[in-house]
Amino acid sequence: MKRLLVAALSVLSTAAIADDSLVSRGDYLVNTVMACGNCHTPMGPNGPVMDKALGGGLRFDTPFFDVTAANITQDEKTGIGTWSDEDIKNALIKGVRPNGIKLAPIMPTAFYQVLSERDLDAVVAYLRTVPAVENEVPTPFYKVAIEAHPIPGAEAPIPEEARAGDPVKEGFYLATIAHCMECHTGWVDGHPDPVNALGKGGMEFPGPWGVSVAANITPHPEKGIGAWSDAEIATAITTGVRPDGRHLFPPMGFPFYANMKPEDVAAIVAWLRTIPPVE
Ligand code: HEC
Ligand code: HEC
Repeated sequence: MKRLLVAALSVLSTAAIADDSLVSRGDYLVNTVMACGNCHTPMGPNGPVMDKALGGGLRFDTPFFDVTAANITQDEKTGIGTWSDEDIKNALIKGVRPNGIKLAPIMPTAFYQVLSERDLDAVVAYLRTVPAVENEVPTPFYKVAIEAHPIPGAEAPIPEEARAGDPVKEGFYLATIAHCMECHTGWVDGHPDPVNALGKGGMEFPGPWGVSVAANITPHPEKGIGAWSDAEIATAITTGVRPDGRHLFPPMGFPFYANMKPEDVAAIVAWLRTIPPVE
């Protein structure tokens, strides 16, 4: 009933038409570039369980916290159906829940501060359309307070005008909201170091596949991907196949990046070429 009404309204008002494009931009960001489902959708033996999309997913039991990616569907009891738009934005870019409790930094909040106002609106507009899934995730448990380590230059929103026509800037923006460097930054002295080890890799991900190790994706000719062609890098990002034919393991997000627009992938590759090569 409610949906019918919305459909009828969207024919009548231009505001609602503008809203539609906001929702489709949000759909693209959430399900492709930002890969929210890589954490927030439950994993079954055959991959993500899509009829429970965004209904709560991976558990991260670490020395710092034991948290589960929340149910971010519109369910009012177990999801975020009762949150205001402002509540959702605060969680996304400030990492704070409506009850004041801070989210563990595994939620890539530090990477979302860069979101333009329009893209932030788009993500929220799309989340409003996600069907409610009733699924209670375990209560988070925090052991040690830890800080997030944002990427230098990504501490504040970068609006559309500031990126237009500049693939390297667009690539920096997209790679940041895709949180590539949450996994691919090297650790120095017990914490990720995006200043000296951006793209160095080394983080380990145990799972049913064994242990995958985030690769060095800097332009270093031997240790990184400096010798790969643009097309080879794009293929690895979107299909998970390396130039030597090996298939990449999770949690590398290629099933999501598969639907990224070619010009967006090209922008990310253009930016990756500009980061300092590290061994
Ligand atoms: C790397 C994994 C990961 C990705 C990617 C991720 N999240 Fe999260 N998110 C989490 C975890 C884990 C929590 C819970 C943290 C805690 O309990 O302290 C969380 C919490 C949240 C919350 C708070 C919900 C609540 O009930 O407390 C919202 C809202 C949210 N995420 C939205 C998103 C959106 C939207 C995206 C994509 C744009 C996204 N997340 C991408 C891991 C992730
Ligand atoms: C959730 C963690 C995670 C995220 C997010 C992530 N990656 Fe990866 N990535 C990995 C892991 C782990 C590997 C290695 C997998 C393997 O060796 O099987 C990898 C491998 C790669 C490779 C192959 C390099 C090589 O030498 O084999 C490239 C290129 C790459 N990632 C680029 C990206 C880009 C660009 C993004 C963002 C758009 C990204 N990754 C986001 C975890 C991640």
